[in-house]
Amino acid sequence: MRTTERLLLRPFREEDLEPWAALNADPEVTEFLGEPLSREECDRIAAAVNEQYAAEGFGFLAVERRTDGAFLGAAGLSREQWYPEDLEIGWRLAREYWGQGYATEAAASWLDHGFTTMGLPRIIAVTDTPNHRSIAVMRRLGMTFDHEAVLAEDGIEFDATVYSMTADTWRHRA
Ligand SMILES: CC(C)(COP(=O)(O)OP(=O)(O)OC[C@H]1O[C@@H](n2cnc3c(N)ncnc32)[C@H](O)[C@@H]1OP(=O)(O)O)[C@@H](O)C(=O)NCCC(=O)NCCS
Repeated sequence: MRTTERLLLRPFREEDLEPWAALNADPEVTEFLGEPLSREECDRIAAAVNEQYAAEGFGFLAVERRTDGAFLGAAGLSREQWYPEDLEIGWRLAREYWGQGYATEAAASWLDHGFTTMGLPRIIAVTDTPNHRSIAVMRRLGMTFDHEAVLAEDGIEFDATVYSMTADTWRHRA
């Protein structure tokens, strides 16, 4: 569990599952993420996130707004199929919560955890190249362009843009 100025980053709870499924079924949210996900798939992801967090101390955890307890979405660290040697930082918020800096605030806390607590040498972020909002989050965090690649998810290829940040850059960022 992590606390930032406005947010609580915590494991998924039963009451998150409905808004989590709703945001994953929203075509605006999933524009660059592939097909909208079923409720079963969303439940499975939430359970897997909680299991990984319990076992390894990091994960793509739920994001809660502290003032009113609203479930905003999820953000955090994960290990993905394409670059298994690096941990990846990611974010996904319900449409109504975009434009308020919540993704950047949550991700900055996870970068701090990755570099400071876990001692990672670097962290990457991967997105569909046309996902400008996601790339803007990477830049706000101080991550820099690493490379472009054609990656495949569930057998479907996409043009990916990869940003990265080293522990040194993070330390000297302030
Ligand atoms: C990617 C995504 C999380 C970005 O959300 P976002 O709200 O644009 O990003 P942030 O939370 O960093 O907010 C930044 C915006 O809030 C504004 N803002 C307001 N208050 C702010 C604050 N206190 N701090 C920082 N920014 C603030 C910024 O000016 C910026 O506005 P702009 O987009 O008009 O330039 C969101 O678009 C999303 O969930 N997309 C769908 C899922 C997805 O594609 N995920 C990425 C997969 S790789």
